Amino acid sequence: MAINKTIRPGLIQLRVLDLDKTLDFYKNILGLDEVCRTSDGRVCLKAYDEFDHHSVTLKLADTAGLDYVAFKVDGPETLENMKAATEAFGYAVDEVAPNTDQPGFGKRYGFTIATGHRFELYCDVDLSAKHPGLKNPDIWEEEPRGMRATRLDHFLLYGPNIAESERFCQEVLGMFVPEVCNTEDGSRMATWITGNNKPHDLAFVEYPQAGKIHHVGFYLNDWSAVGNAADLIAINRLKLDIGPTRHAITRGLSIYFWEPSGNRIEVYAGGYTAYPDNPQRVWDASELGRGLFYYSGEVIPSFLEIVT
Ligand SMILES: [Fe+2]
Repeated sequence: MAINKTIRPGLIQLRVLDLDKTLDFYKNILGLDEVCRTSDGRVCLKAYDEFDHHSVTLKLADTAGLDYVAFKVDGPETLENMKAATEAFGYAVDEVAPNTDQPGFGKRYGFTIATGHRFELYCDVDLSAKHPGLKNPDIWEEEPRGMRATRLDHFLLYGPNIAESERFCQEVLGMFVPEVCNTEDGSRMATWITGNNKPHDLAFVEYPQAGKIHHVGFYLNDWSAVGNAADLIAINRLKLDIGPTRHAITRGLSIYFWEPSGNRIEVYAGGYTAYPDNPQRVWDASELGRGLFYYSGEVIPSFLEIVT
């Protein structure tokens, strides 16, 4: 239950259908900076308030969705210990050599968890060329654009056997579980998991199909930034899913929409401070509407049904 053993989800690779149109969204509407392009045509991006080389990689593909997420851990000893613990947990681990498919990243270990998602672990990554100031710093080096996303924040994954994936995050990644939602028979319907003081780094919803992603969440500074994002969704004719609203679960202030390739994006602000010694909050499935959308108390069908 140590805080910061797994520091954060630091990298996500997403599949997109129309690279130019989708890249325009990530850069000019969400507000990420393009860092570099790989020899196979993928594009690496980061948010203005992130220090590491990049946090989002877009890959042109025939289907939208998630290739993998990578978690930064607190050092080489933790990395090797977690590799051994992952194998002991029963998952086969492969190794990705430093500075190969993800420029600036050190060695990564990868494996597939119960829900069918590829997770990776790493500890070394280069400092980005354009990072927040370090010496008597201003609040930004270059005025943020668009929705002014500050960082990659979290993601919600859909797949089978989330109870095992939750247990893996606790037992191997050293994370903790601030909130859960259970069905009437007591089995896990959804779980919110973190390795730090954020209310969640990731969440799972039980779902028959493996390896699906519901949304990627980017952090904004406050409620007015969520309102600004709503304006930009309308001005740019992006498809809104729901919001602006508040979650009772995590207490985040939120809006959901689809980027041009059909990956659902959440921009999110606020949320409570999570501590590993806080008691767990438990939701009944019958109350999930209020948990997700506190104001209306109802979940819209698209929110539950559409994943990539
Ligand atoms: Fe979210």
